[in-house]
Amino acid sequence: MQSLPLNQHTLSRRLAHVAAQVPDGARLADIGSDHAYLPVALMRRGAIVAAVAGEVALTPFRAAERTVRDNELQPWITVRLADGLAAIEPGDDITAVSLCGMGGETIRDILDSGQAHLSGRERLILQPNGGEQPLRQWLMDHGYQILFEDVLHENRFDYEIIVAERSAVVAYSEQELYFGPLLMQARSPAFIAKWQRMLRLKQKTLAQAIPEQKRSQIERQVQWITQLLG
Ligand SMILES: C[S@@+](CC[C@H](N)C(=O)[O-])C[C@H]1O[C@@H](n2cnc3c(N)ncnc32)[C@H](O)[C@@H]1O
Repeated sequence: MQSLPLNQHTLSRRLAHVAAQVPDGARLADIGSDHAYLPVALMRRGAIVAAVAGEVALTPFRAAERTVRDNELQPWITVRLADGLAAIEPGDDITAVSLCGMGGETIRDILDSGQAHLSGRERLILQPNGGEQPLRQWLMDHGYQILFEDVLHENRFDYEIIVAERSAVVAYSEQELYFGPLLMQARSPAFIAKWQRMLRLKQKTLAQAIPEQKRSQIERQVQWITQLLG
């Protein structure tokens, strides 16, 4: 079972870790907000001053509207039915953007196609469900430095959180893009446990009949993980 966001009063551990990375007093755009639990919980705590909850799908958009209305937060949280960063309008003066609970490639594509809606001064708080490597690649290619990374295990899943801001040129190695430059340095117990699980999964895949190109890619990853776990 995937991590449930719980509700606007009690965030899941995953969303609580994300919430901790939203700067105090931020004007937050939460894209792919679903029930808007993250912006509503932060607003209820007085941790942010305003928010936009963006949703592309009608049912979660209505759910977000309902949560905001039930908490009487309409003056501070605007819910918009929009694709990706198109939910952000120039007058919003957004200072932080969160994109959580989607695949890393989806988050990358939303950032890539919505660049015109970013000033470049926003803090990005990203919680990809897999696909972290292509997401980090996009961040590096677009001049974003990774300021903080976190990994946690909840309901049988490993979740990574990546916080980034635009900076001078940054260069990460292939392994840093794969494991996370800061996670690799910190080597937390949750990080080691994640890669022990990943190693077992990849070794199982290699025991099966798979296309040669896929095999050599996984073999390379297994080599990296084995070195990492040393
Ligand atoms: C699994 S939910 C995650 C909800 C919440 N962010 C969380 O982490 O608990 C992903 C949400 O992203 C929305 N979504 C996917 N692509 C989107 C896009 N291009 N623009 C806005 N919302 C999108 C989906 O409709 C869905 O409600």
